[in-house]
Amino acid sequence: MIEAVQGCLAQYVAQLQEPLVTQLYQQLPPGKMLRSRLILAIAPEAIPLAAIVEMIHAASLLHDDVIDDASMRRGLPSINALYGNKRAIMLGDILYSKAFFELAKLPHPIPQIISHAVTLLSVGELLDVELSATFNPDEERYFDMIYKKTGSLIEASAQAAAILAGKERPELYGLYGKNLGIAFQIVDDILDLTQESERLGKPAMADLQEGKTTLPLIYLYESLDPEGRRRLRELHGRALAKEEIAWLRERLEGSGALERAKKRVWSLAQEGIEAVGKEERLLEIMERLIERTH
Ligand code: FPP
Ligand code: MG
Repeated sequence: MIEAVQGCLAQYVAQLQEPLVTQLYQQLPPGKMLRSRLILAIAPEAIPLAAIVEMIHAASLLHDDVIDDASMRRGLPSINALYGNKRAIMLGDILYSKAFFELAKLPHPIPQIISHAVTLLSVGELLDVELSATFNPDEERYFDMIYKKTGSLIEASAQAAAILAGKERPELYGLYGKNLGIAFQIVDDILDLTQESERLGKPAMADLQEGKTTLPLIYLYESLDPEGRRRLRELHGRALAKEEIAWLRERLEGSGALERAKKRVWSLAQEGIEAVGKEERLLEIMERLIERTH
């Protein structure tokens, strides 16, 4: 099934009839295809929708790596690192507009649902840039940003798939997708602080250095005394020395911040599962996500 999505993607790219685009596209490191797995779990026939969402997602990551000045993606050199920002941006725009060309062929209201999510996704990325400028201890602003940046497209994917499959309450699938997306982002935030670079396929402990005050860091901040808070704020947005990373690790361990963030993941997962009435395949997707926190 996933192979069918990959075939559809390859076909869309081939239709552009530009060898340079095909060559650059082939250099994109393959991802987990979470969005496609989710769409197909709800609507097994919805191959074009899955391919469209993967193209939008790939475009957003191409742009995100330029914005974040990232040199690695999924354990391999990013397109901007290999070929420069200009090519990465344009490959993103090409994939993005081809995705919209194909999206326009899908029945009402699928194009509206997906395109609205892409607006939110872009607003989310802008908010991420904005929030990263200073240390952000505000949990609510963090949740609003990750819902838009990561939750919105997954929410829309699930809802659109449910409509295509003729499900009775597509908005409940949307809620499942939204929670899956938000939980996924929090798991990512936890792993940034707990895993080694080799396992992540990107530098570890990078979020704070890049200016991102993620949920576990907000919880850590709340647990610290004024001196600890001052010190944590002071680590924001710059390269950290070994001793500073060790200080951060030690504080995280004693604070219960990671556990608190994991609890948020579990309650989001629970709410999502209940929304779709414990559907077997959706339960499995959510469980696999949670396992990554252990
Ligand atoms: C990854 O965030 C980024 C996103 C999930 C969304 C990025 C969205 C845009 C760049 C808007 C433009 C959209 C299109 C379709 C052209 P991250 O940096 O936290 O995650 P990472 O560690 O995987 O880089
Ligand atoms: Mg990034």
